[in-house]
Amino acid sequence: MTENRFKKDFPIFDNVPCVYLDSAATAQRPAQVIEAQKRFYETMNANPLRGLYELSIAATDAYEEARICVRDFINAADEAEIIFTRNATESLNLVAYSYGLNFLHEGDEIVTTVMEHHSNMLPWQMVAEKTGAKLIYLEPDMDGIFSREELDRKITERCKLIAITHVSNVFGCVNPVKELADRVHRNKGVIVVDGAQSVPHMKVDVRELGADFLAFSGHKLMAPFGIGVCYGRRELLEAMPPFLTGGEMIEYVKLDGATWAELPHKFEAGTVNPAGAYGLKAAIEYLQGVGFDYIRETEDRLTARIFEEFSKLPYMHVYGSKDPANHSGITAFTIDGVHPHDISSILDADKVNIRAGHHCAQPLMEYLKVGNTARASLYLYNDDEDIDRFIESVKKVRGIMGYGA
Ligand SMILES: Cc1ncc(COP(=O)(O)O)c(C=O)c1O
Repeated sequence: MTENRFKKDFPIFDNVPCVYLDSAATAQRPAQVIEAQKRFYETMNANPLRGLYELSIAATDAYEEARICVRDFINAADEAEIIFTRNATESLNLVAYSYGLNFLHEGDEIVTTVMEHHSNMLPWQMVAEKTGAKLIYLEPDMDGIFSREELDRKITERCKLIAITHVSNVFGCVNPVKELADRVHRNKGVIVVDGAQSVPHMKVDVRELGADFLAFSGHKLMAPFGIGVCYGRRELLEAMPPFLTGGEMIEYVKLDGATWAELPHKFEAGTVNPAGAYGLKAAIEYLQGVGFDYIRETEDRLTARIFEEFSKLPYMHVYGSKDPANHSGITAFTIDGVHPHDISSILDADKVNIRAGHHCAQPLMEYLKVGNTARASLYLYNDDEDIDRFIESVKKVRGIMGYGA
């Protein structure tokens, strides 16, 4: 048993003792982030970017320092490339509405995959419908891998945009973003990376990946709800029209039109979320203190344990690669004869929290010929005892449902 030295930082585990295995849905928050939220409201609360008094300037500073923190975290070239949004979904919609609708045309092809979360699929369906561009889906094998033939066949010279999740929220696999970026850049197209499940768990460097856009949510990396990030290359963002219009995103407004504020403000209409941004900075700093090496080691070790225990139970099925190292802490599974909702309810009685359902990836469920799955997803606060209790509870499921062993 290896002790998890970070679990004690998470007050939820003292207040509501549980085994939390639903971090792919949202992470738990450490005291450091909760404290930061409190500190913002107790010492800096004012509407930022518009007030000329000390408190508003403090809120503005908190907000803009968070932007710089995010810039460095993902290695963007410029803080103007960091747009704060509500979440990954809003970030992906920003790119679809502002870039997709204006820069894609009939005759172009948009390539995405059947494993996308609905948030990175529906915006591209909308763009294809409105522009006449053709939407093409890459199909992986059952391990979540795209064959070379599949990529060669479906990514043609007409492909002007690739939208792909960096890490699948069902398979847990890491997709070959860099290779796909190279392919689409040869056509002078762009790649939109959904980093919702990667950014909290691994070092994501937008320049090394060749990402033109990257979307992620703060709440999956321990930040407050309601803050997300849309990274975009400056040159692209400069050329794009605003997504939303209103206060704060203008340079000058007349009765017959308006000019837009400089980046990043052009894309941040209305009152922004400085408390969320301040909390996101606290979360990133906490994450950096833990380090991605520790996260990777912990998630890999515990996933390997889950796989080993599951392999002893003939009625268990795991989706995606058979190698636990390819699962990024996410294990989707089913139990013969038991609906995933029943699995989740039975585990809940033992205070083991997992997810059950289609994981906002209905087309992938159909592709896998499974209606729903259960899913256990890990983060840096999980430990061996969590896995023991999870496995113990899983072993009870078939018996409770009236099966023999
Ligand atoms: C891969 C992926 N993309 C996008 C999202 C959407 O995130 P949010 O609901 O925070 O916008 C999720 C959420 O689970 C996800 O797993």
